[in-house]
Amino acid sequence: MLSPPSLTCVTVLPLAKRKYIADKILGLLIGGHDTASSVCTFVVKYLAELPPNIYENVYQEQMEIAKSKAPGELLNWNDIQKMKYSWNVACEVMRLAPPLQGAFREAMDDFVLNGFSIPKGWKLYWSTSSTHRNPECFAEPEKFDPSRFEGTGPAPYTYVPFGGGPRMFLGKEYARMEILVFMHNLVKRFKWEAIIPDENIFYDPMPVPAKGLPIRLYPHQP
Ligand code: HEM
Repeated sequence: MLSPPSLTCVTVLPLAKRKYIADKILGLLIGGHDTASSVCTFVVKYLAELPPNIYENVYQEQMEIAKSKAPGELLNWNDIQKMKYSWNVACEVMRLAPPLQGAFREAMDDFVLNGFSIPKGWKLYWSTSSTHRNPECFAEPEKFDPSRFEGTGPAPYTYVPFGGGPRMFLGKEYARMEILVFMHNLVKRFKWEAIIPDENIFYDPMPVPAKGLPIRLYPHQP
């Protein structure tokens, strides 16, 4: 006969610990889903709206990789390294439509910035979007130009979709792979156009097209 369940085996964590764990789980769910899906959405939006040569260059790069594979063979890490132009396009998408608008840091010492005294211990918010659109960091900041990421790329701490410093987002390579695999599988099958030109964007808190970015897909001819 089964013995009744013992109450002593149930551990109830204190509220503060439960809140801490819930906070981490929510952070992981939001950080893991909404960020990369926002970037993928904006890759689709920009490739639909930009001059066609940008899509064509991505397509050529991805088809060269697709043709090197045996039927059914999956992408591997080496293939991801070859997607240089596609990654420059994704980087420029993240410059203009970064999923995270910024994050907090704590001042380790007193300092003065632009005439404002910041005391040690203050919480500061660093802004991705305003840094990315600062003409001192990026010439002609409104222009979509993937060549900004060629060679050594932007100066340190000017391009910060993944943050910077010791607390920088540690899953950058995973996110890069996720975005490039998405681009590969989409571009090798389809061309597309946006149904709503210049669709409005709202922040939730990541950028989201207001009407869900409806597109018309055109499969490539075999
Ligand atoms: C394009 C995709 C992504 C971008 C742009 C991005 C960006 C960021 C940024 C800016 C931070 C804050 C770093 C800082 O404070 O300096 C961060 C933290 C974090 N991200 Fe991502 N992320 C992306 C994808 C992901 C994915 C796919 C996951 C999980 C599977 C994830 C999980 C997290 C977590 C858990 C943290 C908090 C890390 C900590 O507390 O130090 N992110 N991310």
